[in-house]
Amino acid sequence: MEAEKLNKPQEQPCNIHDVVCSMDFGNGIILYNDDCLQALRKLNDKQFNLAITDPPYNVGRLYNEHDDEMPLLEYENWCKDWFNELLRVSETVVMTIGYKNLKFWMNLDPKHMIIWHKPNQNSPSPLGGFNAYEPVLFWGKLQKRIGHDIFKTNIAMQEEAKWHNCPKHLPSWTKLIDMLVDKPAKVLDPFTGSGTTAIACHNLKLEFTGYELDAMYYKKACKRIKGYTSQMALW
Ligand SMILES: C[S@@+](CC[C@H](N)C(=O)[O-])C[C@H]1O[C@@H](n2cnc3c(N)ncnc32)[C@H](O)[C@@H]1O
Repeated sequence: MEAEKLNKPQEQPCNIHDVVCSMDFGNGIILYNDDCLQALRKLNDKQFNLAITDPPYNVGRLYNEHDDEMPLLEYENWCKDWFNELLRVSETVVMTIGYKNLKFWMNLDPKHMIIWHKPNQNSPSPLGGFNAYEPVLFWGKLQKRIGHDIFKTNIAMQEEAKWHNCPKHLPSWTKLIDMLVDKPAKVLDPFTGSGTTAIACHNLKLEFTGYELDAMYYKKACKRIKGYTSQMALW
């Protein structure tokens, strides 16, 4: 009974309009419906061990609200703003950055890169065939020895998150995070989307703080995360 009570997600209403703007799922898993840049600016230095994210790539994806076709300079300046905050608040920053933005991110001096190889990926490549890899870039401290710099997983549609237009493949994302940090660790995802990082952290018994600006995605992500966090007793 007590465990049930503690596991019940705690909703925090915003002060002004009584709109729910954060959800505490217990065991250190919390999601905010907020603009990550504004929120990150209020956080302390090195509050997190790992910031891992899959930001909007500015490739014209149809998000519910986010404009994924910003003028290039505006996009790059926006990325630099939140990226600098990530470097400040987290010991390690790891990102999937999209094929098109590789040059921009390489100029920001990543310390390491691994290749996420998805042999069954079938999205078109500019070479005329299929693009079966994604670069994953690292900045800051290496938390763990990484045995191999090719990370190979088959991916699949995320049926439970199909209301979002680009959810990461949960089993792969979980495996990637597990490869990067040991518990206990505090993990941050400023672009939470459908909640994949939150669920991966829950499964790996890591603490998680996330932000998602879009109210519809936020609500659906909360429901999805709850589906996992309410299944298990306290750890
Ligand atoms: C590429 S998606 C992340 C998908 C996520 N990895 C998943 O597995 O579902 C990027 C997300 O960032 C959100 N977003 C865009 N601008 C934001 C901002 N300023 N603060 C927080 N979230 C933002 C978008 O609404 C979108 O859901």
